Amino acid sequence: MTRLVVRGFSVSLDGYGAGPSQDLEHPLGVGGPEMFDWFFHTRTWQRMHGDAGGETGVDDDIAAQGFDGIGASIMGRNMFGPVRGPWPDESWKGWWGDEPPYHTPVFVLTHHPRAPLAMAGGTEFRFVTEGIHAALQQAIEAAGGRDIRLGGGVATIRQYLSAALIDELHLAIAPVLLGSGEHLLHGLDLRALGYECVKHVAGTRAASHVILRKRASKEKHP
Ligand SMILES: NC(=O)c1ccc[n+]([C@@H]2O[C@H](COP(=O)([O-])OP(=O)(O)OC[C@H]3O[C@@H](n4cnc5c(N)ncnc54)[C@H](OP(=O)(O)O)[C@@H]3O)[C@@H](O)[C@H]2O)c1
Repeated sequence: MTRLVVRGFSVSLDGYGAGPSQDLEHPLGVGGPEMFDWFFHTRTWQRMHGDAGGETGVDDDIAAQGFDGIGASIMGRNMFGPVRGPWPDESWKGWWGDEPPYHTPVFVLTHHPRAPLAMAGGTEFRFVTEGIHAALQQAIEAAGGRDIRLGGGVATIRQYLSAALIDELHLAIAPVLLGSGEHLLHGLDLRALGYECVKHVAGTRAASHVILRKRASKEKHP
């Protein structure tokens, strides 16, 4: 059964998933990196950047599981990059260099059409203008029975949560205050949408890891 999952999504204590003023210098918004202290020190992160070392333990275990069993990803256009409005050209290819860590199709939600973008290592960014259900359907077809990772950002996760389409959501709640930015859960009644907290683990560093799951009574994706 293909599931739609969110893995290792960082949230500040006051509920933001990105800081304000996203741009080329601030991919996570101003202050956003403070939420990722749990992740940036892990062995997994260091290896992703070609470095040896890094910490092992709970945080690293969770970071390492990020891409396990994933056959496709979905993300919003703001997570893909800082370009807004119609694409001026094809030059922006994501934050992740020539060989992004996805190695699967990645469906990018946008209102602005763009041709698919094949990258080294098997990642292909495919731009979807028909909305969240179309992106999910295309991801299910691409995933070959494996799970689909919903990477973010905030607006995209909020839409899939509102439609109760996310099966499992792992949040890393960081003890930092951002004060403003993109708020993840404001106005969403997750309880009414059928979600419950099934696990919480203290991280190696200061973040707390919480797993929310949609109750089993809801249908899984075919
Ligand atoms: N905390 C974390 O762990 C984490 C993880 C990933 C990302 N982030 C951060 O989150 C931030 C991005 O989040 P965000 O909330 O600003 O934006 P987002 O969800 O990444 O993208 C929103 C944009 O995607 C397009 N879009 C979304 N839904 C659509 C739909 N149904 N139909 C068509 N287009 C749609 C629209 O772009 P257009 O209308 O312009 O095409 C919309 O403005 C970034 O700072 C990123 O670094 C944080």
